[in-house]
Amino acid sequence: MTQPRQHSPSSKPEPDLKREKRSDLSTLAIATAREVFDLLRDDLVAIEQELGRDAASGVSTITEIAEYLREGGGKRIRPSLLLLAAHMLGYSGPSSIRLGAVVEMVHTATLVHDDIIDGADTRRGRPSANTTWGNEKCVLAGDWLYMQAFRVALEEKNLRVLDLLIGLTQQMVEGELLQIQKLGKAVSEAEYYDLIFRKTACLFSVSMQLGAVLAGATEAQILSVGAYGRTVGLAFQIVDDVLDLTATEEVLGKPVASDLREGKATLAVIHSLDHGTAADRQIIQRVLDDRSFENVSRQQIQEILMRNGSVTYAMGVAERYAEQSRRALKPMPESDFKRALLWVPDFVVARDK
Ligand code: IPE
Ligand code: IPE
Ligand code: MG
Ligand code: MG
Repeated sequence: MTQPRQHSPSSKPEPDLKREKRSDLSTLAIATAREVFDLLRDDLVAIEQELGRDAASGVSTITEIAEYLREGGGKRIRPSLLLLAAHMLGYSGPSSIRLGAVVEMVHTATLVHDDIIDGADTRRGRPSANTTWGNEKCVLAGDWLYMQAFRVALEEKNLRVLDLLIGLTQQMVEGELLQIQKLGKAVSEAEYYDLIFRKTACLFSVSMQLGAVLAGATEAQILSVGAYGRTVGLAFQIVDDVLDLTATEEVLGKPVASDLREGKATLAVIHSLDHGTAADRQIIQRVLDDRSFENVSRQQIQEILMRNGSVTYAMGVAERYAEQSRRALKPMPESDFKRALLWVPDFVVARDK
């Protein structure tokens, strides 16, 4: 088990810090990723089969889009969390396969809609579905996927499961909508955390809670694993937002520097807006207003973020959430599944895609 190093949020700019930290953790991460994958191998294969069955519609365009999305792969992190939570609390069986597919389908539906909203042209290293089929068909394919997810979830005949999924879907839609309302604006950190909880962390939390519900866990256990999912999910989105500022499209498989171009101020940018000079603020606001790097270059923004220690700050916050998530698992029974869950926050913070 690796413990990520703590960075002080106020430490001075260290341009190479993130890269160094990532590469020295990645050796450990790769070894453990294989162990976690081995632990879940059979279940993940079964979930892929379930996803294959679920991608079929009587209307060929829907099947084509759903199949294309499924084949694109992805990290499958949400079903993995659901499986680990269920196993850790003593459940193993067909319901976690079905619900694992359900959370992945909900995730995929939000990605299809998100790429339309963001005007993104790549996803998972390939042209995004909207580029190939156009926005109109993809909105409908996304809707269909949501409902397919609910149809599969219905097989559980469990109102708690449906309640969690309905609350989740509303939170995610509200998150994307709030984000649209705040485009171009310098949002506060508190608004940022609320937004990323809704659009990302809520699904991580619900995936964990569904696993626990299947295991017949106590309310206290459901709360604990839900808190774990929420904090891992917050760390996940903070890192996603940092990668948007620091990574390359080849590695990430989706557009980079897109958040600023879309008028989104994410944590590192918010930090520079709050702590930078008046000139820094003006330059950042210019990009948010222009929704392009026409008048200000991406390098200028990176220089501002580095000078203010803003990437280091954002990664420090992500690491604190990662630490919080590990603490949430303290009352859980010891097992390989718990150890895998303790490793996930490291993976989330150290990942480069
Ligand atoms: C992308 O999620 C959307 C965010 C919440 C940032 P992932 O990074 O888990 O996407 P895939 O499924 O691995 O492609
Ligand atoms: C997360 O936000 C999107 C969803 C939760 C659907 P982003 O817009 O940052 O996700 P990416 O970067 O496009 O994957
Ligand atoms: Mg997006
Ligand atoms: Mg992003």
